[in-house]
Amino acid sequence: MSNVSVFAPASVANISCGFDVLGVCLKSVGDILHIEEASKPGIEITEIIGQDLPLEATKNVAGVAGLALLADYNPERGFNIKIEKGIKPGSGIGSSSASAAGAVVGINHLLGNPYTRNQLIAFAMEGERVACGTAHADNVSPVLLGGFTLVRSVNPLDVITLNSPLELMITIIHPEIEVKTADARAVLLDKLHLKQAVAQTANLGALVTGLFKEDYELIRRSLVDHIVEPVRSMLIPGFSELKKRANQAGALGTGISGSGPSVFALSKGMETAQNVGLAMQKVYDEIGVPYDTYISPINEKGVKIL
Ligand code: HSE
Repeated sequence: MSNVSVFAPASVANISCGFDVLGVCLKSVGDILHIEEASKPGIEITEIIGQDLPLEATKNVAGVAGLALLADYNPERGFNIKIEKGIKPGSGIGSSSASAAGAVVGINHLLGNPYTRNQLIAFAMEGERVACGTAHADNVSPVLLGGFTLVRSVNPLDVITLNSPLELMITIIHPEIEVKTADARAVLLDKLHLKQAVAQTANLGALVTGLFKEDYELIRRSLVDHIVEPVRSMLIPGFSELKKRANQAGALGTGISGSGPSVFALSKGMETAQNVGLAMQKVYDEIGVPYDTYISPINEKGVKIL
């Protein structure tokens, strides 16, 4: 029986002005999945190392994503999956997306790659549905395609890979509390003022342009969220101070990573990204919040076969 191991990276969704549409793939943190072909049809999650998550395939994001692929390809095929969790669930850096995307890339590889990475997004999204009730694609897309991605539409699925400026670095601070995506979605308001929609659209267009032109000052001006951050920031300890100090330390912009509680900052250059990390750590040291930090360049490849 054949087998494969994959590295499935973490990701930052939303990126301030792109709620549910923008995402970017990280390099330095992720899950490892070991997948082997099995004689029994379906998916069996044999072991999860590092986190307490459901082993039942229909309740596990990797299991659900794998089953969605097999339902389309051939339900008679079977695979066992062992997951080493490097990403904490509920941290806001795409824990469920990494496992879901890693599972479908590994299975696709063992099947001889019948699907493109873009086609795998639809299966991985099913993992998101079981994790939070909504099959959003803004985390799974960058994890599968690499770099920055824009989800223009989920039905029909239309995902575009954007440009990744070479010097752009991502700093993440994760306060050690869990915020479930479903809860962070429940606090959002259903209605917008036209003014907010106009400002958000303008920033989203400008951010995408800034990425393509590698115009770091335009990226700086565009990293503004008029819709989600004002509501969700209340769930994150010390958010406004983190943002203020990270930007003072040179970040181009600072916002909530996905549905939080992690906070991300984009910087030009590794040195600035490290200074931004130190500034954010200082805020949490002062108020006594335990944290993890990650500093990462942009991962332009996404899930990697090991
Ligand atoms: N766009 C999603 C949200 C990402 O913000 O709810 C969840 O990681």
